[in-house]
Amino acid sequence: MQVVTLDDRGSSSSRGLFLPARKGKPQRLTGTMKELIDQGKRTGEIPLMDIMGWDYVRSPHAIITGVSGSGKSYFLRALYQVCASIGEVIAIDPKGSDLARLAKQNNTQVVVPPFLAEHSSTGISGKFLKDVVDTLKRTESEMYDRQGQIYRITSKISTDYRELGLKPIFVFIDEVAALMTGASKQVKADFQETLTRLIVLGREAGVYLILSMQSARAEYLPTIVRDSIALRVQLGRINSENTRFLFPELSEMPMVPLGGKGSGIMSIAGDPRYAGIEPLLTPTVLD
Ligand SMILES: Nc1ncnc2c1ncn2[C@@H]1O[C@H](COP(=O)(O)OP(=O)(O)O)[C@@H](O)[C@H]1O
Ligand SMILES: [Mg+2]
Repeated sequence: MQVVTLDDRGSSSSRGLFLPARKGKPQRLTGTMKELIDQGKRTGEIPLMDIMGWDYVRSPHAIITGVSGSGKSYFLRALYQVCASIGEVIAIDPKGSDLARLAKQNNTQVVVPPFLAEHSSTGISGKFLKDVVDTLKRTESEMYDRQGQIYRITSKISTDYRELGLKPIFVFIDEVAALMTGASKQVKADFQETLTRLIVLGREAGVYLILSMQSARAEYLPTIVRDSIALRVQLGRINSENTRFLFPELSEMPMVPLGGKGSGIMSIAGDPRYAGIEPLLTPTVLD
């Protein structure tokens, strides 16, 4: 709600309260993956609901939180496939499940724990996080390279990677918190610092992160990172504990859509079309 000035009124009634609202009730997207991808290509946005899309250039980075079974991986899967048709995708999947299988199928870059690839049973180890950090650092170098090119080539003050004809790079990390278990303090810090630089500096270079985790607690997700992520999603059970981390601006419990799996709430910063906290029903994809 905002206070606005009404020019055509006398001084006693020239102020009003403005409640941003949109016509129509957003509905869940259903269809085949191909339909979602086509819609993404047609609108230049990543479809979220029938009348809502994610403009990742304007509102960079995404985080999806929710308890186990709330539909995070399923949502990531849909986002991943649309993103793969738009730009380069990198999948980091500590469980080696949906994302990893998709990436393998599509022949795109994927990082999984060594025990999945090598017939051993040591589980997630420090080595895996090191592999992840190496991958993120390669992306970071690419980001600096792009920034350098933008700086050298264009004379416009406000510009980005699209000016160079480059494609966006989407880095997907499922279950971010699970990554950090079993790693030494130093590798963990290295991971968080690299992630922070990518998130804070990535927008102009077209480097976007899409993260999933059970809870956006500060020990897993530094506040500066959380504040730089524009699309925030909470799936499944909404309680004041978990919403407080993700939506610190929220003072009351929001209405939750009754949608079963993959339903929740989201906010998209930077996009005036979506000024508040919105209900969300993630796409149901029939493939
Ligand atoms: N939007 C959705 N539409 C239909 N089924 C869904 C949706 N989201 C999740 N599911 C189903 O719910 C189950 C749990 O989802 P999953 O993504 O694995 O949860 P999480 O990753 O949060 O633990 C899966 O079997 C998945 O197929
Ligand atoms: Mg999952």
